[in-house]
Amino acid sequence: LKEESSITKGPENPAQFEKRKREHIALALSPETQSVTSSDWDHYQLQHEAFPEINFEEVDVSASFFSRSLSSPLFISSMTAGHADGELINSRLAALSERRQILMGVGSQRKELQDVTAANEWKKIKKQFPKSLLLGNVGISQVISSPIEKIQSLVDSLEAVALFVHTNPMQEILQVEGTPQFRGGMKALENLVKKLSVPVIVKEVGFGFSLPTLNRLNETGISVVDISGKGGTHWGRIEGLRSQSEALNQASLTFKDWGKTTLQVLREIENAKFSFKIWASGGIRNGLDAAKVLSLGASMAGVAQPWLKAALESEENLDRLFERLQLELKIALFCTGSANISDLSSRKVGSWLK
Ligand SMILES: Cc1cc2nc3c(=O)[nH]c(=O)nc-3n(C[C@H](O)[C@H](O)[C@H](O)COP(=O)(O)O)c2cc1C
Repeated sequence: LKEESSITKGPENPAQFEKRKREHIALALSPETQSVTSSDWDHYQLQHEAFPEINFEEVDVSASFFSRSLSSPLFISSMTAGHADGELINSRLAALSERRQILMGVGSQRKELQDVTAANEWKKIKKQFPKSLLLGNVGISQVISSPIEKIQSLVDSLEAVALFVHTNPMQEILQVEGTPQFRGGMKALENLVKKLSVPVIVKEVGFGFSLPTLNRLNETGISVVDISGKGGTHWGRIEGLRSQSEALNQASLTFKDWGKTTLQVLREIENAKFSFKIWASGGIRNGLDAAKVLSLGASMAGVAQPWLKAALESEENLDRLFERLQLELKIALFCTGSANISDLSSRKVGSWLK
């Protein structure tokens, strides 16, 4: 009975919310919560071009999102929000987004749905970094249970260029305070797309998508799916380690290999056609990983945990990380003879080794 009550989900108070967010950050930085799938990235190789017929300085890694020009297809995947420690992290990330003109997903804005003052964090950051390119974030459970005007207010508070809707059944069920209510998700999404003022992007949080689910999403009118596959931060393990419940902890170990890696999803959908664009994230740790997903047709490549680690260190380390990722991406383009990102994907320079 005791065990059962400890996995009962209920509303959390502000102190519990702060504690949960703090634990997420600490655990996300631990090697214990990273899936180790370096071998997976080795299953797909880009072909070396000994005669690239291009000068390195001509390699162009710029990208765009609707009418906005971006310096890179790399983006900051949605992370943290709504608590004291988040402010420093988010202002550094927003500064990077502004300086480098890259997209930044903000962390879940769920708290703003109950507490309108939580939006002040973003209003302050947007005022300080007006040219940052922010994308809102909310869970599908909240989309199902909230009026559209409330979701629109999340977009407005950060002048977001788009809204990420995350779907995370495995995380919600393993999270003590989780909201594993997903009934009516597709319908709610369809309705949201029709009424929201900005494009909607659906994402996972590190378990990927199956082809049948992507085919179902085809009919919703969404603009992008960020497949966010397995291979990096493991949200099942994070929630399992946080939990006082032996059952949830054990379940998070039972499901430690659940889901599809980012590359597995891209392989499965290689010949599929969708009405939306594909972005990729989950386990991308260097510019070569990013080049691989872009060569497989993803138009943007998202990174989460490494930005968090760098943001907690210093602004300089964030810049250093950005420069390293960009350099590695450019090297991959140069050494495959690709002048730009669309060249990289259209020339089919990759091959599967297994
Ligand atoms: C500290 C932290 C907080 C996160 N919070 C959110 C969130 O609020 N909403 C969301 O959609 N994804 C969230 N994510 C998931 C990431 O956006 C991403 O999908 C996942 O971590 C896989 O990317 P990675 O392997 O590069 O870390 C979070 C990730 C981290 C590390």
